[in-house]
Amino acid sequence: MSARPTLLIADGFEHLLARVVPLIQAAEPTASLHLLCTSTFSEHEAHNVSDVEDEARELGAALERVIVVRKRGSIRAALRRSRQAVSRYQRVWLSAHGDRQWVLLAGCWFSGIVAWGSRYELLDPATSRRRSIAAWQMPFLLLRRCLTRRMFNLLLSRLSLVLRLQRVLGWPDSLIVEPVGACNLKCRSCITGVGELKRQTRRLDPQRFRGLMDQIGPYLRWLDISGYGEPLLHPQILDMIRYAKDKGIPVVQIDTNANVPWRVDQLRAFVRSGVDNVIISLDGLTQEVYVQNRVGGDIELVKRFIRELLEAKRLEGSLKPVIVVQMILMRQNEHQVEAFKQAAKDMGADNYRLKHFWLNRPIGAQELNTLLPVAEEHRDFAVQDDRIINKRPPNINYCRLLWDEMFVASDGTVMPCCFDPNATLNMGNVLQEPSPGRVWNGQKYRRLRRQMVTDKGQIETCSTCIMWTVPK
Ligand SMILES: C[S@@+](CC[C@H](N)C(=O)[O-])C[C@H]1O[C@@H](n2cnc3c(N)ncnc32)[C@H](O)[C@@H]1O
Ligand code: SF4
Repeated sequence: MSARPTLLIADGFEHLLARVVPLIQAAEPTASLHLLCTSTFSEHEAHNVSDVEDEARELGAALERVIVVRKRGSIRAALRRSRQAVSRYQRVWLSAHGDRQWVLLAGCWFSGIVAWGSRYELLDPATSRRRSIAAWQMPFLLLRRCLTRRMFNLLLSRLSLVLRLQRVLGWPDSLIVEPVGACNLKCRSCITGVGELKRQTRRLDPQRFRGLMDQIGPYLRWLDISGYGEPLLHPQILDMIRYAKDKGIPVVQIDTNANVPWRVDQLRAFVRSGVDNVIISLDGLTQEVYVQNRVGGDIELVKRFIRELLEAKRLEGSLKPVIVVQMILMRQNEHQVEAFKQAAKDMGADNYRLKHFWLNRPIGAQELNTLLPVAEEHRDFAVQDDRIINKRPPNINYCRLLWDEMFVASDGTVMPCCFDPNATLNMGNVLQEPSPGRVWNGQKYRRLRRQMVTDKGQIETCSTCIMWTVPK
């Protein structure tokens, strides 16, 4: 006999669901399980709602129903839909891993899907530990969690953003660090690949990296170690990841082309370094398609990397790192999109990402036209009369990144974001200053922030950005 249905809300569910569902079944053998997804979907990462529904169904054979609450449209309507969806259930499982649990709690609370009559079970899939919590306890748990240096810092940087302050009250909340500004491939999509990276591209000095982490690591919630080069080519890359994790940074991520001959032993050390996410660039499913962008690459190396990383995770008994295979949508590979989604699952990746092509290098309209996908929904640029048109031009004097993120190149040069690979908006050199604050709140950053809130249209680099657009 099936019991009353139980609701499951899982954050990052693609990779957690397969583990979480059996845990719930072991705890409640008669539970009939429904799943609620409330994710938002960014437009330049074409991962849409119907894909998520399909994945959820496939992943959780035990799931009887999948409910998707779209966050698009008015916030009030989304809150109402979420609350209505949850209030039908007496028992709700919340499942996320480590720090994400608090994000999930916050999400549940702030999106108003806390139903007072329901019983909540918080489940950590990594440890199988569970804890019952009442709805009224959530704000207190959250408050306790928020009274940390990182959350306080986030609050300060958000406040500075809202008040449009030129001098940010906090430190960056996110950081991109480039360990090597050189690469073993020659990708056509990338400024490094086509040899147009003009700034100094030496290897990042690990000692300097540690100094940077000592100063701002305790405030960071997210660190991406990649930039414009292949991070796994840095001989001390694992030490750097470990050092960052020792600073307590919740999410340390690597983007890699995976064209390195690492075998299981080395990958086990990679897993032990504590890296949280590994984004693996795989712009095609066959060697023939793959090399059309990844010039000089070997798809078999990538596949082997994924296989052996999975094996390393298994041997280390670790749920991390989350493995995401990523395809940049291009004319050369767009016919493989559907097969790619399936292949990602078959390979054992936790998730896949379809990324829109963006402009990071000087490129003529005609050449761009040969690289952009044909399908309109797969691209953000158009070519008309030899001109490149940004289909989603920034039309609002706003960019959060200037208040909460920094890009540090391998020679220490600071750029405001990764849309400026050649550092035309050079903010200074963080490795040449006694404190990163000299750059972060230096004259150049302050001037740029002022321009951002008054006349973003004058910042040339921002014209190719596809992130902050208000629909007309
Ligand atoms: C510059 S790469 C460096 C890391 C690594 N070498 C790699 O290729 O994954 C950082 C990320 O940018 C992506 N990328 C490169 N060129 C791009 C483009 N034109 N549009 C969108 N993403 C791009 C890569 O796939 C990768 O995920
Ligand atoms: S995209 Fe990555 S792999 Fe390709 S050239 Fe750029 S840095 Fe290298």
